Amino acid sequence: MTKFQSLLYLLRLLKSPYLIGFYRGHTHLSDAQVNIIRDILSSHDIDARTHVLEKYEEGFRDLVGNGYCHSFASGRMAFFTLMQSLGIGKGDEVIIPGFTCSVVPNAIIRTGAIPVYSDIDPDTLGSDAAAIGRCITPRTKMIVAQHSFGIPCNIDEIADLARSKDIFLVEDSALALDSRIRGKSVGTWGDAAFFSTDHSKPLNTMIGGMLFTSHKDIFENLKRATGNIPDLSEGHQKNIYRRFNYERKNYIPSHYPRSIIRETLIDTLSKFIDKKPVFLESDYTAQASGTPGYPYPAKMPAFLAQLGLFELDRWTNEKRKRKALLREYISGSETVPDQIHIPDAYYEKEKEIVPLRYIFRSPQADSLRKKVGKYIDVKGMWFLDPVICCPEGPHALGYSAGNCVNAEEVCSDILNMPCVLPDGWDDRAVSVFHDILSGTK
Ligand SMILES: Cc1ncc(COP(=O)(O)O)c(C=O)c1O
Repeated sequence: MTKFQSLLYLLRLLKSPYLIGFYRGHTHLSDAQVNIIRDILSSHDIDARTHVLEKYEEGFRDLVGNGYCHSFASGRMAFFTLMQSLGIGKGDEVIIPGFTCSVVPNAIIRTGAIPVYSDIDPDTLGSDAAAIGRCITPRTKMIVAQHSFGIPCNIDEIADLARSKDIFLVEDSALALDSRIRGKSVGTWGDAAFFSTDHSKPLNTMIGGMLFTSHKDIFENLKRATGNIPDLSEGHQKNIYRRFNYERKNYIPSHYPRSIIRETLIDTLSKFIDKKPVFLESDYTAQASGTPGYPYPAKMPAFLAQLGLFELDRWTNEKRKRKALLREYISGSETVPDQIHIPDAYYEKEKEIVPLRYIFRSPQADSLRKKVGKYIDVKGMWFLDPVICCPEGPHALGYSAGNCVNAEEVCSDILNMPCVLPDGWDDRAVSVFHDILSGTK
């Protein structure tokens, strides 16, 4: 968006009665639950904190499958620590999809290794075995296979390839939780997997990441590497807690327009004042060394693990709701095949998709994005670039135009509809979507 378009967008928001956000605040938590979270934040009882972290890791593991889980302050930190524990470093190559967030290649360059971008499969919007095969060289030490937006990629083919070449396979499951192929969960197909639980992800703990592996030796090796990982500072944890309360109150559709206006103003002003870290913002750059303001890697804060436990309790219901919403979006899209291209993966019987977002492509993407943007926050539409969020641009992280042709095409015409909504808003989102497609809005 140009500055002028952003200004118009903000002015329009002033008149909006509501805006369905891509982020959902924890409006569903009771005050008693929030008090429990706050008590853990202020507690200095190390045993109690450890106990909460262990319970959260166990709960998460039970959702994914048979194996071991280790929590971190973010998915990228889980990925980084895994690479370190495997001795990946200078001169090694790690294959990732050219359809990712800059924190992933940033974690690779922190180890001294080189990110190599493989193209995506437009049918799943995730990693593609043939494209990965073309990127393998004698220096390849790891393959990262990504599941996008809740859709499992064809991970069985990628696992066969990795096994045949004897290369370590990690699933980037930051955007998919509990989705399955033939009943087997994402995260359990590779040698290991990492998940993200930041506030835009399937399970929202504000910030957070998890490493899963079914292999005891890999886990023990990782545990050794995590021995001295520090906590985020108390001040940083308090900032996150404040932000959690802010989102709980304001990230509901009726308050969302005002919060976007407020946040845009604060963002503009923050160029002149020192902004305190909340979301581990510095890891988005192309800089390999040092992270001002917090340790990298860092532990998952215990109060957020407690938040994770509350979210796990709600998961079965959430999963059912999200799958039902996806069916509604798809059936609406089927009525306008000239406007909407639905990725094939949504029709694959073997795949159980727990959607993070409903993804489709459109030859009229620009005008549809504008129309959708009146009712739904499209600022977070993923992914409009093969490597998003890097202030220096994708090239600074080693991505060159033309590296991933499919991904670039998808970025030009992709749209997302949110599947993670507060109670009572699913029907509203579906009816807005239908009205836009039928031309009534
Ligand atoms: C595809 C993908 N992988 C990994 C990550 C990293 O997750 P985290 O923010 O928890 O480090 C992200 C973050 O947006 C992502 O989009």
